[in-house]
Amino acid sequence: MDSPVFAYQLIEALGEDMVIAQSELGTRRVRDWSGTPGAEPVAVLRPRTTQDVARAIAFCHAHGQAVVPQGGLTGLAGGANLHGGEVALSLERMTAIEEIDVISGTITVQAGVLLQTVQEAADEAGMMFPLDLGARGSCTIGGNLATNAGGNRVIKYGMAREQVLGIEAVLADGTVVCDLHKMVKNNSGYDLKNLLIGSEGTLGVITRAVLRLAPRPSSVSTAWCGLPDFDAVTRLLHFAQSQLPGGVSAFEVMWPSYYDYVLDHIAGLRAPLDSRHAYYVLIESVGSNAQRDAEEFEAMLGEMLEEGVVENAALARSSSDAKAFWAVRDAPAEFPILMPDLIAFDVSFSIADIGEAARQCETMLHERWPAIQTLVYGHLGDGNLHVIAHLDAREAPPNLHEAVDAAVYELTRDWNGAVSAEHGIGGKKRAYLGHTRDAGAMHAMRAIKHALDPTNVLNPGKVLERSLP
Ligand code: FAD
Ligand code: LAC
Ligand code: ZN
Repeated sequence: MDSPVFAYQLIEALGEDMVIAQSELGTRRVRDWSGTPGAEPVAVLRPRTTQDVARAIAFCHAHGQAVVPQGGLTGLAGGANLHGGEVALSLERMTAIEEIDVISGTITVQAGVLLQTVQEAADEAGMMFPLDLGARGSCTIGGNLATNAGGNRVIKYGMAREQVLGIEAVLADGTVVCDLHKMVKNNSGYDLKNLLIGSEGTLGVITRAVLRLAPRPSSVSTAWCGLPDFDAVTRLLHFAQSQLPGGVSAFEVMWPSYYDYVLDHIAGLRAPLDSRHAYYVLIESVGSNAQRDAEEFEAMLGEMLEEGVVENAALARSSSDAKAFWAVRDAPAEFPILMPDLIAFDVSFSIADIGEAARQCETMLHERWPAIQTLVYGHLGDGNLHVIAHLDAREAPPNLHEAVDAAVYELTRDWNGAVSAEHGIGGKKRAYLGHTRDAGAMHAMRAIKHALDPTNVLNPGKVLERSLP
């Protein structure tokens, strides 16, 4: 149907308050942070309630109109991008924090609320919402759940999935599934919550959630370490996990390619150590007894230094030291400006394999494209490696992006890894999903999509191909 005509019908059916026609939009809401192409929406729907979402989706379903759910558009897989002819459904007006229940340890929110707002509300209530990622000030809980986001504290608290007790969502035909429970244990039938989490807007629009809060830690110990080899990295991880009373809450590893690049290119970053090493680790532990935790952390580091596992270390003596260490790790937020044509990967391997897989990946990229720049870093405690490849546009051969994608995903398949550790498949990695999911899993995913959205209304062409075989 003609786009302006359909936009007019949407206004008539749903009311002027809910619909913005494309003509009033410009290039807003076209694509996410991934750098993959987007297109203009037919219209943007801005519901205020779950019932609004249900009415909107039911109307689109009845008219065979594709809908792309959108949160904060910080996604890195093109999942919220429009391809042309779709309606965008933004949760930007569903931002309420409905309840904090300190006894049950829950916070109930609408899906458009920003992650940082939830973190702050939990903190004010004397609790903690542990999910944390660099995009915290712009990404939404709906987007976090739809992508099953990971981030910096997965090693202790788990991915977004682990922070959810209850969910409410609207399915492709407008049916509302309300599973807004607060119980940890719930074995009553199929686990729809976990089916919707990580489904990237292809199975339902997440409208509300009951999130799980953790006790707020009263101590944070942070250090920056330089290590000689990968064996030392895994030894530090295991020793810290076994020794520290609060365990390890972050274990972020940076290869020299990453470390040198960010210190050379990003103003205001301070080198935590003046020595050079084969690996850099930002390690953090949280706990409940400030004095004891600090002593145990220092003792653990001292032992690792004595044994030569850690060559040199800087302990954060204040929160501003810790902030300065994290700034080095959070530098990727600047990458799209510094390297507009960057090719980014979010792959995972077993922890035992990650050192050698990363080495082979960098070697392979440099052998095939000698001028290519690679930056390697990751959430190593979770087996999650980020690889950035970049070649100046003037030097890049045609189809570089496709060739680098194919090469890295083939290597990931050969190592029995996963093509996405935390950012999701979206449109960007769709062609490679079958590299690390077997034929049976692909069959099951297509069957689920077909059962819940037979006419492909919700986010068509994301995760799975547009027309299912
Ligand atoms: P969007 O980008 O708007 O959408 C993402 C996907 O979710 C799309 O498929 C969309 O259709 C779907 N969606 C959005 N809202 C809903 C909803 N209510 N119901 C159903 N589907 C919905 N990710 C990590 O995992 N770990 C990191 O460490 C991390 N760091 C980042 C750092 C930076 C600087 C940036 C820019 C991004 C980072 N990301 C990271 C990626 C991104 O922030 C996450 O994927 C985030 O969860 C996306 O949330 P969003 O609200 O922006 O979603
Ligand atoms: C990070 C994002 C890109 O970890 O996932 O920096
Ligand atoms: Zn990450």
